[in-house]
Amino acid sequence: MTFSINNKIVLSNDVAMEQFGFGTYTLTEFDQLSRAINAAIKVGYRAFDTAQFYHNEKPLGQALKQCGVQREKLFITSKIDNSNQGYDKTLISFENTLNDLQLDYLDLFLVHWPLIDTFFDTWRAFETLYEQKLVRAIGVCNFHISHFELLAKKANIQPMINQIEIHPYLTQVDLVKYLRKHNIAIEAWSPLGRNKVISDPLLVEIGDKYHKSSSQITLRWHLQNGYIVIPKSGHPDRIAENANLFDFELTPKEMKQINGLNKNLRTGDNPDEIFKNNGF
Ligand SMILES: NC(=O)c1ccc[n+]([C@@H]2O[C@H](COP(=O)([O-])OP(=O)(O)OC[C@H]3O[C@@H](n4cnc5c(N)ncnc54)[C@H](OP(=O)(O)O)[C@@H]3O)[C@@H](O)[C@H]2O)c1
Repeated sequence: MTFSINNKIVLSNDVAMEQFGFGTYTLTEFDQLSRAINAAIKVGYRAFDTAQFYHNEKPLGQALKQCGVQREKLFITSKIDNSNQGYDKTLISFENTLNDLQLDYLDLFLVHWPLIDTFFDTWRAFETLYEQKLVRAIGVCNFHISHFELLAKKANIQPMINQIEIHPYLTQVDLVKYLRKHNIAIEAWSPLGRNKVISDPLLVEIGDKYHKSSSQITLRWHLQNGYIVIPKSGHPDRIAENANLFDFELTPKEMKQINGLNKNLRTGDNPDEIFKNNGF
């Protein structure tokens, strides 16, 4: 399996998205963001993941504007905040997102969490934005099979991607199978389990074999599974380390061993709880 940092995953609407990108959650200050973005750009990252909830669209927009890479070469994702869901509010807040990011279109817009009250109206607004070509692809985060089945009752356009918590301690086997069957791309958030997986002895041991860190082993496991992956770091050395994954390959046996680490351990919220409570 040959990979490079420029590897693309082709979504169901034929838009090609970088398989390897950068997460920006908790990076909120311009100086901090700008340093991270420049470090990422330098080693080849071109895809950046933000959300209205992260309160960093403005400084991120500024940092991306100054990073020296043409807009068309970047792939920028944002997500609708729970408080902005519903038809009209989604459209208005999307406009704010574009303004804050200093963009005239977004590459990917995601529903951040499924919410029972605004479930269909939010998606209808996403379809409107897609039809108006203000966004190249639309998708969801944190959807379980039941949420896809509910959405399918009314949606005209199927989500192209599901961004979910996934890492060696939360492998989500049934959901992954469903998404593959329905040609919905899988994007892993908290791919390092927010740091919880990287001290695992098996990942450390496999890392020693390849002279790689356990973070690199974990991220390589994501790539070989076909997942889009967006690790976050505020440290330039780790940003470079996380992207240095393309000179080794895990064996099928090692992939299987890592799959076996699953503990159904969530580091974030359970979407079923958020859905029925309409938010956090
Ligand atoms: N859709 C959703 O609901 C959702 C939810 C959560 C996250 N996300 C997205 O997914 C992205 C990634 O998830 P995440 O930020 O929660 O977690 P993550 O990427 O799994 O882990 C980030 C943590 O790992 C540390 N880290 C990164 N690289 C490292 C390395 N090589 N060695 C040691 N430690 C390392 C970081 O610390 P330092 O920064 O100090 O290096 C940070 O504490 C987010 O930034 C966000 O864009 C989406």
